[in-house]
Amino acid sequence: MARSPRRALRLRRSSALVAWPRGRWVLVHNFVAGTTAACGGAVLSMLAGAGRPYNVTELGRALRRSGDPDPATTLRRLVETAILVVPGSAVAREEASWRRTWRWGPVAAAFHRSLRDLRFLPIEESEVLLRARARRRPPPRVIPEPGPGRTPLPQPRIRRGVLAHLMKRESIRDMSGAPVNARAVADVLFAGLGVRALLRIPVQGDLPLKLAPSGGARNPIDGYLLARNVKGIPPGTYRYSGLRRELERVGPLPAGTLPDLLGGQPWAAEASAVIFLVASLGRAMWKYEHPLSLRMVLFEAGHIAQNMLVAASDAGLAAWPSGAVSDTRVEEALRVGGPDRAVLYAVVLGHPRDSGPQGPRRARSAKSSASGGKSGSASRQVRASRSAAQRASGSRPAASSARASRSRLRG
Ligand SMILES: Cc1cc2nc3c(=O)[nH]c(=O)nc-3n(C[C@H](O)[C@H](O)[C@H](O)COP(=O)(O)O)c2cc1C
Repeated sequence: MARSPRRALRLRRSSALVAWPRGRWVLVHNFVAGTTAACGGAVLSMLAGAGRPYNVTELGRALRRSGDPDPATTLRRLVETAILVVPGSAVAREEASWRRTWRWGPVAAAFHRSLRDLRFLPIEESEVLLRARARRRPPPRVIPEPGPGRTPLPQPRIRRGVLAHLMKRESIRDMSGAPVNARAVADVLFAGLGVRALLRIPVQGDLPLKLAPSGGARNPIDGYLLARNVKGIPPGTYRYSGLRRELERVGPLPAGTLPDLLGGQPWAAEASAVIFLVASLGRAMWKYEHPLSLRMVLFEAGHIAQNMLVAASDAGLAAWPSGAVSDTRVEEALRVGGPDRAVLYAVVLGHPRDSGPQGPRRARSAKSSASGGKSGSASRQVRASRSAAQRASGSRPAASSARASRSRLRG
């Protein structure tokens, strides 16, 4: 029986590449695989021609012609870093799904993708780093110097109307783990994602109008509730419908702890519920093909979260926002995936630890009376306020927790 000749391996350039210069190299990055290779002239000229599949012998020849002394090693490295991909392979299929879905170009894709699943530094490590940084480069002023031509304004009316509610919002991370009420959670969800009207417009159909604004009313963000200890809601994960004002069951609580889902932040451990804001970017992309729209989606997450946080303080819950999320773990728990779906932000909710019989008011007064730094709970509060998001390498506030203190402005 005649043996069929072994087919030579065929490779093509990845379709998910961005590149930037570094020294005498060009760094080529595959944003789907999250890999980078330093490439010289021979590789770049070979890649320029490898938009369709070639067999390895041909690619090797092209490299040798451009002066590469060891094409076999170069090709192996380019395959390992997914700069060259095997047609039909897992990475090639994932890239194809990006090509079908993503409308905002490779630069925005690389930005969006490269922020996923970061390792967040523990607070102690971050402090050492910040001290060293402050010695090299003093921190920039956070409060700008007063400018010329100052014009006094009437005092804001912080005891009345909406300002009184906004004044109550603060990040409270010290939670007892005790159950929170379904009613309070329902109010918080509604504040961010509740639908107050529907807009019917030609071509686009029905668009929800929420309590928070939405760019073009495209409403790219959904809320997912992780209920750990909510009276009246069985533990598990749910998707919120702002139109019907109800929850749809997604699945059980994921294995592990809440810090595992929130970048390792230990102060998430005793939260009773977390609302994850998950973007379906395709809803925005369909109308807005410019990557500026990615910014709009992020702004919208901020609007929604702020509404939720204000509603949470108003309901007497402890709450804080978390920009630090463990993307893959959260998305697996919520069963969302795909190039255009991503968890962006979280609102962490709980029962304030030191709310005794008088309720959460005590928690707040205990904290503010101790803002000179004497109480353990207040100093924990201040410690925790260095967010894990900010502790992601490169963006930490510089104040030391031991010395940081809060002074409250009161009306
Ligand atoms: C976009 C954003 C991301 C944040 N991420 C975190 C976080 O991951 N962890 C955390 O503990 N706090 C986080 N915070 C809360 C801030 O640390 C907090 O808002 C800030 O210290 C000011 O305190 P206040 O909220 O009480 O006014 C975040 C805040 C914002 C606006």
